[in-house]
Amino acid sequence: MKLFVTEGNPHCLKVVAALEMTGIQCDIQYVNHEETVVPFLSHPALPALLLPSGQHLFSSNAICRYLFEVNGQESSDHCNQWLEWEATDLQHALLQALHMAVLQGKGSEVSKVLQGPLNYLDQSLSKGNTPYLTGEAVSVADVVLWAALYPVLSDSSLALGERNSLKAWFDRVAAMHSCQSAAQKVLQGKDLQGMKSYLQRQPAPQSRQCNSNPAECEEGERAVSEEEMEAAALTWGKSLNASPLATDRQHPILPQEGNRNILLTSALPYVNNVPHLGNIIGCVLSADVFSRYGRLRGWNLLFVCGTDEYGTATENKAREEGLTPQQICDKYHTIHSSIYDWFQIDFDFFGRTTTEKQTEIAQDIFWRLHKHGFLVEDTVEQLRCENCQRFLADRFVEGNCPHCSYPEARGDQCDKCGRLINAVELREPQCKVCKQTPVIRSSKHLFLDLPKLETQLSQWLEKSTSTGDWTANAKQITRSWLRDGLKPRCITRDLQWGTPVPHPDFKEKVFYVWFDAPIGYLSITANYTDEWEKWWKNPDQVELYNFMAKDNVPFHSVVFPCSLLGAQDNYTLVSHLVATEYLNYEDTKFSKSRGVGVFGDMAKDTGIPSDVWRFYLLYVRPEGQDSAFSWADMALKNNSELLNNLGNFINRGGMFVTKFFEGYVPAMELQQEDKRLLALVGWELQQYIQLMDKVKIRDALKHILNISRHGNQYIQVNEPWKKIKGGDTERQRAGTVTGVSVNIACLLSVMLLPYMPTVSQTIRDQLNAPPSCINTMLQGTGSFVCTLRAGHHIGTVSPLFQKLEVDQIEALKKRFGGQQPEDEPPKKKTTAQNAASAQPAAVPDTAAPAAEVATVNGVDPEKARQLTQAVTEQGDKVRALKAQKAEKAVITAEVAKLLDLKKQLAVAEGKSPESAPQKSKKK
Ligand code: MF3
Ligand code: ZN
Repeated sequence: MKLFVTEGNPHCLKVVAALEMTGIQCDIQYVNHEETVVPFLSHPALPALLLPSGQHLFSSNAICRYLFEVNGQESSDHCNQWLEWEATDLQHALLQALHMAVLQGKGSEVSKVLQGPLNYLDQSLSKGNTPYLTGEAVSVADVVLWAALYPVLSDSSLALGERNSLKAWFDRVAAMHSCQSAAQKVLQGKDLQGMKSYLQRQPAPQSRQCNSNPAECEEGERAVSEEEMEAAALTWGKSLNASPLATDRQHPILPQEGNRNILLTSALPYVNNVPHLGNIIGCVLSADVFSRYGRLRGWNLLFVCGTDEYGTATENKAREEGLTPQQICDKYHTIHSSIYDWFQIDFDFFGRTTTEKQTEIAQDIFWRLHKHGFLVEDTVEQLRCENCQRFLADRFVEGNCPHCSYPEARGDQCDKCGRLINAVELREPQCKVCKQTPVIRSSKHLFLDLPKLETQLSQWLEKSTSTGDWTANAKQITRSWLRDGLKPRCITRDLQWGTPVPHPDFKEKVFYVWFDAPIGYLSITANYTDEWEKWWKNPDQVELYNFMAKDNVPFHSVVFPCSLLGAQDNYTLVSHLVATEYLNYEDTKFSKSRGVGVFGDMAKDTGIPSDVWRFYLLYVRPEGQDSAFSWADMALKNNSELLNNLGNFINRGGMFVTKFFEGYVPAMELQQEDKRLLALVGWELQQYIQLMDKVKIRDALKHILNISRHGNQYIQVNEPWKKIKGGDTERQRAGTVTGVSVNIACLLSVMLLPYMPTVSQTIRDQLNAPPSCINTMLQGTGSFVCTLRAGHHIGTVSPLFQKLEVDQIEALKKRFGGQQPEDEPPKKKTTAQNAASAQPAAVPDTAAPAAEVATVNGVDPEKARQLTQAVTEQGDKVRALKAQKAEKAVITAEVAKLLDLKKQLAVAEGKSPESAPQKSKKK
């Protein structure tokens, strides 16, 4: 095992402390902040632990937990809850605090940001009344929390105040030798400033509750002025414009004079594989939320997307499945459509790239580029497989890496050393399909002359990135492309499945997918309406939003804009480029070939409603930094946020109307307290709108949840169920509280619409809300208006959400977290399954979705998959124990577990348990 850490990084403090405390033997390697240790991540992720199996763990808490487990200390549920809290609530506040203290010189304000989590911790410790977080003995939770808090708690200048239980606990942990030694190693005795270079590399933390004043972050404590309260009460009494409805749509949607015209695209998903959750949140789901929101704002908006169908990957898939490329496209286009339908992605048009319009428009752009002298010719050396009679795309050759000799390097990159490779440099190259040795052939190709377009591009970029809403990663990736200088890019390929190059000298060739695919946006629009040019050749009236994952950025910010600029036909270029980071799956990445992760077609088989999936994916949307999908967290958020917070509030209001007022909204007489709530709600609404306008989809969602939290508290304090039994004044009070609550529920339904369209509609149905309530965000910063007036009759109220039970989640986690046995199934290993995708997170495969795998003849592939994973993990653990010369009894116990798992695996694979390989015992 090897642990990679970097100095001045508080997360590295955690893992070094855990290592010291467990005494596990493991090399520590100090690297600099920029080093990419985990090969498949495109950014440095430190700390990282390289396991004996060759896999990496790259979440600091997971590493700590692993080290403790290897040491025989499994983490309890209680412990995991603390780790969870640390990773979410505490980290968020800490990052903000450190940012303020170290980078902004606002150390004196740090206590406001931290007081919530510190109080919570202090109270829990004092209630628990044990020396450590989870009991009498120190656990991984103590180490992780201590290390996280170390930088701020050991700095007295921050004046965080005295908290007795917290202080006693912190000092107790800090006194341990292992902690002292770790702090010395990682922070080198430097103060907070020692973390500067680490912090500079972190995305600027976004305040969750508020934008400007951290003092306002404390829930419910935001000071509301008299003026705000009066203004809120005034707005409340107004009425909403009844027509036209924000959501009315008539096709074809075309730009309108004087309106905000928005053309919205999400990256065209590759047709040849089933998208996983990471793909879905990265483009179509994010774009869908924004388009639904845009319609609520009354913008004139067109949302198009479609499948990206050309290229080698499709040709290979066709070969694999014994179909023609066209048949593959038809088949998978349908699969994509139905997945997006299930996720309620409301495209105005979902097209595809293999159409006549595509050929027409791509060839037109090509000829224009040619005419204006932006294409150059060059000869390229390529590998050709004579056996398969085709040129091999980079990902379809394998061989020895010229740098590190890793035997399974691909023609584009080595997964071992991470270096980029030129396919012809591979030693002992092999065609991935037939394993024959390819030959080098030279072939003539056309290149887009990017250097010649560079000045024009830079000028446009300067303007677009400064006036539009480009995400930080989009700007940064684009900048680094420009900084490295542009080179001509090949736009032709020796393939059959593509848009034909119309030039007579290049008759046998097709366009390279990355030249061709973005033109799909235009051709798909052209298939939607003949008047497509009103959108695409109208830069003055149209704002173009492109949604994508970050690996797509350079093609949308550099290459495609150059094609359009060079073609000189007044094209609409991107105004807002919105790129997400990556979504991981639990502590690893999604992998179709290993059977890890949830893919679009499986989500519906989980029994969890589409809206809940949407909610959770949007809640963890990798906005600003990578994030992870986690089953346990999904259950937690469903049960705490949806069920206990949001659902509970909406249901209470409705139930009170039904039970206490025969279904009629009671008369409301606003008092100070109600007005204060109206002001708070109005403020959250305003924050929501400001964030949404800037496409901060995840952050905006938190404000919805804040509103229902305020609402629950309001109900809790006012106890309408008691007051209804009292005298007239009390009964009237119960009425006001109930009336205000259902009106907030109605507002929430509208704010929720972009995220959870079905739940949103259900709420409005239950409240029998008038259609005009949807118009609440049409103007400015929105207005919270009383839309359910006294006397309004509501519908039938019922619970909106269901609890996700622990065993249900455990079962799902097992089902989707598995690993396919190494030597099975042979067919897939020899075909092109690992190839063809330019997308790091997705690997095409033909494996049947886990959910559909049946048990045949006592063989249980699903179980086998889980057990294989368990065997690998247990094997790692045993190896680690042996390496660190752990106590014999401990090793024996773990070895026994391993053997037992192997037996179970043999059974699940249909072999006799005796055949499980066992080492002969040496005595
Ligand atoms: N198919 C690509 C992917 O999934 C995206 C293509 S976007 C386009 O990564 F604009 F080029 F079409
Ligand atoms: Zn071959």
